[in-house]
Amino acid sequence: MHVRKAAVLALVLSALSLPAIAASVPKSLQPSDAAEARIESLIARMTLQEKAGQLSLYGPADINTPNNPQAGWRNGLQETEDVRTGRLTGLFNNAGLEGKRRLQQVAVRESRLGIPLIFGADVIHGFRTIFPMPLAEASSWEPALAERTARAAAVEATADGFRWTFAPMVDIARDARWGRGLEGVGEDPYLARQFATARVRGFQGSNLANADSMLATPKHFAAYGAAEGGLDYNTSELSERTLREVYLPPFRAALDAGALSVMSAFNEIGGVPSTANPALLTGVLRDEWKFKGFVVSDYTADEELIEHGHAANAREAAKLAFMAGTDMSMQSGLYIRHLPDLVASGEVPMARLDEAVRRVLRVKLKLGLFDDPMRGLDGPPADQRVENPEFIALARESARRSIVMLKNEGQLLPLAKTGPQKIALIGPFAEGTKDLMGSWSLFPGQSAPVGIDEGLHAALGTEASRLTVTRGANVESPLPGGIETAVAAARDADVVVLAIGESQKMSGESRSRSDIGLPQAQQDLAEAVAATGKPVVVLLSNGRAMALKGAVRDARTILVTWFLGVQTGHAIADVVFGDFNPSGRLPVSFPQTAGQVPYYYAHKRTGRPSPESAPGTAFKTRYLDATNEALYPFGFGIGYASVRYDQVELSTDRLAIGNTLRVRATVTNTGTREAEEVVQLYLAQRAASVTRPVRELKNFRKVRIAPGASEVIEFTVGNDDLQFLGRDMKPVVEPGEVDLWIAPSAADGIRKRFVLTRE
Ligand code: NOJ
Repeated sequence: MHVRKAAVLALVLSALSLPAIAASVPKSLQPSDAAEARIESLIARMTLQEKAGQLSLYGPADINTPNNPQAGWRNGLQETEDVRTGRLTGLFNNAGLEGKRRLQQVAVRESRLGIPLIFGADVIHGFRTIFPMPLAEASSWEPALAERTARAAAVEATADGFRWTFAPMVDIARDARWGRGLEGVGEDPYLARQFATARVRGFQGSNLANADSMLATPKHFAAYGAAEGGLDYNTSELSERTLREVYLPPFRAALDAGALSVMSAFNEIGGVPSTANPALLTGVLRDEWKFKGFVVSDYTADEELIEHGHAANAREAAKLAFMAGTDMSMQSGLYIRHLPDLVASGEVPMARLDEAVRRVLRVKLKLGLFDDPMRGLDGPPADQRVENPEFIALARESARRSIVMLKNEGQLLPLAKTGPQKIALIGPFAEGTKDLMGSWSLFPGQSAPVGIDEGLHAALGTEASRLTVTRGANVESPLPGGIETAVAAARDADVVVLAIGESQKMSGESRSRSDIGLPQAQQDLAEAVAATGKPVVVLLSNGRAMALKGAVRDARTILVTWFLGVQTGHAIADVVFGDFNPSGRLPVSFPQTAGQVPYYYAHKRTGRPSPESAPGTAFKTRYLDATNEALYPFGFGIGYASVRYDQVELSTDRLAIGNTLRVRATVTNTGTREAEEVVQLYLAQRAASVTRPVRELKNFRKVRIAPGASEVIEFTVGNDDLQFLGRDMKPVVEPGEVDLWIAPSAADGIRKRFVLTRE
C-alpha cells in the first residue's frame, strides 16, 4: 500500500477507535484467531439495523440496472445516507470508479463502525475485454482456457473496484429452449465440474486477499436450469436423485475450489422455492458440504416468495428466506426492513442473525477490504486505462478455440487466402458487431469488437475485393429485396459464407424460445442462396443448441460460432482461412427437432429402448416422426485433419471394487496437418440397483497429434468414476458389467466391457 494512504487509513481507523488490522488479515483462506476476534468484536457492537445492513445488497441508485427489471427505485441521496447509517453491505453493477470511491469513503470514514462496502458485478465472460460466452468457451473442452479468461476478467474488474463476481453460472442446461444455457457449460455434469473449478480459480486467484482477486459466486442454487418447458423462472420438477447426480455436482466443485458465496435460485423445486429451501441452503450447503461462505439471494428472489405463493407478505418472505439459509438479500430491501423487527420479536434468533453477519464479514476480511478499503478504487477511470494487448490476444485465442465445426463436405474449408476464388458473405450477421457479444456485456472496453466482414477482409488483406458482403435478411424479418440481392451475390461468387443464427437478444435471461430453429426469414434466405447451387459455409451465431433443417442442415460446411466476443471476426477468419484448425466439441447435443427437447446424451435406457439397427420399430421408446439420435451429439466436432481411434486396451477385464483400471487407447492422425483431438471416456454400468444412464462422461483429454503420428492416451478408472448414489442417496459401487467407450463423441467410439467384482 502507498505509504501516505496507509498513514491516512491508519488515522481514519484510529479515529474510529478501531485497531489497525493490517497485520491481522489472514493470508490464507482459513480464518485466523485474530480475524475471528476482530469480527466478534464488531458483531458485539453492531445494532440490529447495522447487522441487517450487512445483509442487504443493491444495484446502483438513479439508473435502470441493465439486465434486471427495475425493482425498488432508489435515489443517490438515499443511497449515500444508507451507507452512512450502515444500512447496506455493498452495491452491484455500479459502473465507474468515482461513485464507488465516494461511497467507500463514506462507509469507512462516516459510518459508525467503518465497515467497508463490497462491490459486485455480473462479470460473466470478461469485463472490458469480452471473451466468448461461457457455453462457447465450454466448447473448447479446455478448462485451463476458462481459468485464464476468468483471471483476465478479474484483473480488469478489480481495477474498476469490483471484488465480487456473480459467476460462474454452473446450472446444467438440458433443454435448449431455456434462454440461459449460454451462461453455463451445457448438459453434462462432469464437463461442468471441470469448468466450475477452473473459473472459480481464475476469478479468485491464488489468494482472495490479492488486489486482483474476485470472490466467485456459483449460481443459481439449485436446479434453475431444470425449468419446466425450458421456460425461464419456471418450476423445476425433478427427483432428488437427478438433483444430486446432475445439478448439484458443479456447485460442489465450485465450492471445493474455494468459492465463498453462492447465489440462491428463483425457481421452486417440489413446492419449495429455492431461496427459502432449508434442505438445500442449510442441509446440503452447510450440513453436508460444510460451506463457510454466505448465500446471497438472486435479484428480489426473497420478495418473490410472495408471488410463488409461499409467503403471505414481505415480512414473512424475509423470515422464510433468512431462516432457510439465504444470508443476504439482493435488491428487495426486505432484510433491512424486516430483520430487525423479526429478531426483536424473537421470531428470528439473534444467533442466526449473527451467524449470517459473521459469514459476510469474514469474506470481506478475506478480500482484504478492511485492510485496504480503497484498493482498486483509486486508479484512473476506465476510459483512460490502456487495454492489455495480451487480453485481446487471449480473446482471439479463446474465440477460435470455442468454434465447433460440425461438417465440412469435400473439404470446402479452409478457403484459400490467395487465388481467384470469389466469396459472398451473406446474412444478418455478416456485418456489424451488435450481436456478437452475447448477453452480460455490461462494461464495454475501448477496443471495438471485430465484425465477421472485418475479420474476413483483414485476413484477405490486399485481396479483400474478392469478398462481397450482403445482409439478405434481418434476423427475424425479411429485408425488402434482400433475398434477390443475396442470390445475385451468391451467383457471382464461387463460395457463399452464410452468417446466420440468433441475435443477442434471443438468448440470455428471460429469453426462452419455444422454437429452437432459425427464424423463418433467415431460413428463406438460406434456401434461396442454396438454390443457386453454390457451395455454402454456414456460420451459426447461437446461444443454444439449435434444430437445423433444410438448406442450413444440408450446407456443405457448418461452423457453430456461438457468441464469441470482441475478437469474433478475426477468430472466425482464422478458422475459415485455415490459420487455425478448429478443435471445439459440442457441450450440448444438437437435436433433430425442437420436439425432442429436453434432449441430452446421458438419458436412461428405458425398458423398451429403440434398437439402433432398426430405429423404426414400433412399441419402442421413439417418436413416430424422428429417430432418437441427435443431429450432432454431445462431444462432437471435427477439424481439418482426420483422426482414427483404435487399439483400446484395458489392464484387466475383471476389476475388483476399490482397484484401478488402466485404459490405453491409440489415436492416429490420418490427415496432413496437426490435429487437436478431444479423446473422451464414457462409462455405463449394465445393471445396478439404480438404473444408470446409457453413458456418462468420466474423463477426457485434449491432445495434439502430428500428421501421421499416433498418440497413446491413458486413463485410469477407479471408484470415483464407478460410484453412483444408491437408493439411500449414499455413494455406492456395485459389482456387475460395465461398458467403457473411448470416443470422439457421446454417440460413437470403441466399446470395451469389464466386470466389476467384489474382490
Ligand atoms: C438476475 C440473474 O438471475 C442473476 O444471474 C444476476 O446475477 C442478477 N440478476 C444480478 O444482476
